[in-house]
Amino acid sequence: MATSEDIQTLILTTLDTQGVIENTDSLKTADGNAIPYLAVVGVLNSLASKEMITYTTIERDQFKLTQEGNEIADSGSHEAKVFNAVNPVSGIAIAELAKLLGASAKIGQGKAFKNKWIKKDGDKLVREVESIIDQTQLDALEIRNTGTHSKPATLKDLQARKHVEKVKLISYKVAKGPKFSLKIEKQATDLTAEMLADGSWKTQTFKKYNFAGNPPEGGHLHPLMKVREEFRKIFFELGFEEMPTNKYVESSFWNFDALFQPQQHPARDAHDTFFLLDPATSNHFPDKEYVQRVKDVHSHGGYGSIGYGYDWKIEEAEKLLLRTHTTSVSSNMLYRLAQESKASGSFKPAKFFSIDRVYRNETVDATHLAEFHQVEGVIADKNLTLGDLIGFMEIFFEKMGVPNIKFKPAFNPYTEPSMEIFSWHPGLEKWVELGNSGMFRPEMLEAMGLDPDVRVIAWGLGLERPTMIKYGLDNIRELLGHKVDLDMIQSNPACRLDKKMGKELVGKDAVDA
Ligand code: PHE
Repeated sequence: MATSEDIQTLILTTLDTQGVIENTDSLKTADGNAIPYLAVVGVLNSLASKEMITYTTIERDQFKLTQEGNEIADSGSHEAKVFNAVNPVSGIAIAELAKLLGASAKIGQGKAFKNKWIKKDGDKLVREVESIIDQTQLDALEIRNTGTHSKPATLKDLQARKHVEKVKLISYKVAKGPKFSLKIEKQATDLTAEMLADGSWKTQTFKKYNFAGNPPEGGHLHPLMKVREEFRKIFFELGFEEMPTNKYVESSFWNFDALFQPQQHPARDAHDTFFLLDPATSNHFPDKEYVQRVKDVHSHGGYGSIGYGYDWKIEEAEKLLLRTHTTSVSSNMLYRLAQESKASGSFKPAKFFSIDRVYRNETVDATHLAEFHQVEGVIADKNLTLGDLIGFMEIFFEKMGVPNIKFKPAFNPYTEPSMEIFSWHPGLEKWVELGNSGMFRPEMLEAMGLDPDVRVIAWGLGLERPTMIKYGLDNIRELLGHKVDLDMIQSNPACRLDKKMGKELVGKDAVDA
């Protein structure tokens, strides 16, 4: 048997001498045998992928003898068998013929009569001619040798008699390709570091990719992003403007100091906050006067406050960190709002929101990660009250499909009063904390330069918890991080905040932060 290497060599040398192979059927191995079709296809594909050859398919019909047809070609037609069984002198008894020839006797008799080769004589058959030409056998042999027959009518007849069947034959016309050569160059399958280092990648030929299969599915939104989209829609419906949150690294100044969070506050400890090592600090600060006002209000008060009474240090405010809350962005935006008010001479009310990632140096467990997303809203207007905050929270959470919320007094360094927001979760059968809110302190707003009658209400909530509730996940690591199951992302439905999605009613231990 010819190996595929033999066939490769045969094709290449034939092309080299003849320039083209009109039909691969003409190829014969050294011992004169035809080459199996599949072997030819394999070699042609391999050579074509290296651009050493090109080929086109030749398709044609061929006629092939069936098993019965082959028997006729080998040992004659039924009618000839009948004729031969009839003794030229004494004939043959009909019963005897059946015994001798079996099935052929019956089929062959009719034809032999029709051909006037034999006739009946009592209960015997006798010959009517001396010799016959077995045309059926000759036809079968012609088909076997040429794959067809010179008379279409005969072909049709033999097909009807199931002596012959039509088959499609595929062969190829082969020509030289742009990289034709008698030698097969070994193609590299990978680009290696060595090739890059020694420059051999420039001359190396690479095996082409021949990926087959289904194109990969893509473009599924992660559940967190689905819920984020819903929150964004609510904010946009309510006329909010999205804050630019594209800075994960922030100075301590915007994350803490501007928010009237004292420099000794435990949250500013490395146990709670990720501080940067390189660069560790930044002195890109807004105007010096504002920084001075922040220093003053922390150190000895102002705007009706007695401050914290400690020595505020710029070095502490310069420390860079991964923002621990999106309120760092809110403080920055409120400062800008104060600047714009000053420049234009009048205050313009504002509604801002943001949804983005924050970082906390926490121990990771089923409900906590060191990074998560916050949803934050800020409304600045003259003479807002706590009643406005409560009323707005009711509208906001109602739109999220959370109709009955409760408030609990809380503490934040930057808001007074502050309230935690709770809702009753029917699946978990308990009140779960949804978020935190409050009115920003005058120590923060007035130091920025906002008028004393400008009040700012604000609230923040996590994105992960509502997402886990909506999608019935009970481990945050199934939602974020390297353990996330891609199927989970593909198979989850779109989020409907205003509709129960079924899954959210399962998993009693789902969220217990
Ligand atoms: N920054 C707060 C937190 O991280 C949320 C909050 C935002 C609270 C705005 C009050 C006002 O939990």
